[in-house]
Amino acid sequence: MTIEGLQKGPELHPLQKAFVGESALQCGYCTAGMIMAANALINTEPEPNEATIRKNIANNLCRCTGYDRPVKAVLKAAKDMKEGINA
Ligand code: FES
Repeated sequence: MTIEGLQKGPELHPLQKAFVGESALQCGYCTAGMIMAANALINTEPEPNEATIRKNIANNLCRCTGYDRPVKAVLKAAKDMKEGINA
């Protein structure tokens, strides 16, 4: 799957919405990889903690965000997906 495959029609995936909503991207170079890694994680572990998220996105080098905002976005997306918000 690619980042384009996450989106259902015109509706962004909850992870995509959370990355935008949490300002978790700047140049966007790393964003597709971050989101795809986060999606794979959430699919196997629906309620990941911060340490698990950091470990799972670690191979996606980001020179802009410092990783805090992407981690926050993944936490938000996982919560939203669990509660059926933005899903
Ligand atoms: S947003 Fe620029 S490298 Fe991650």
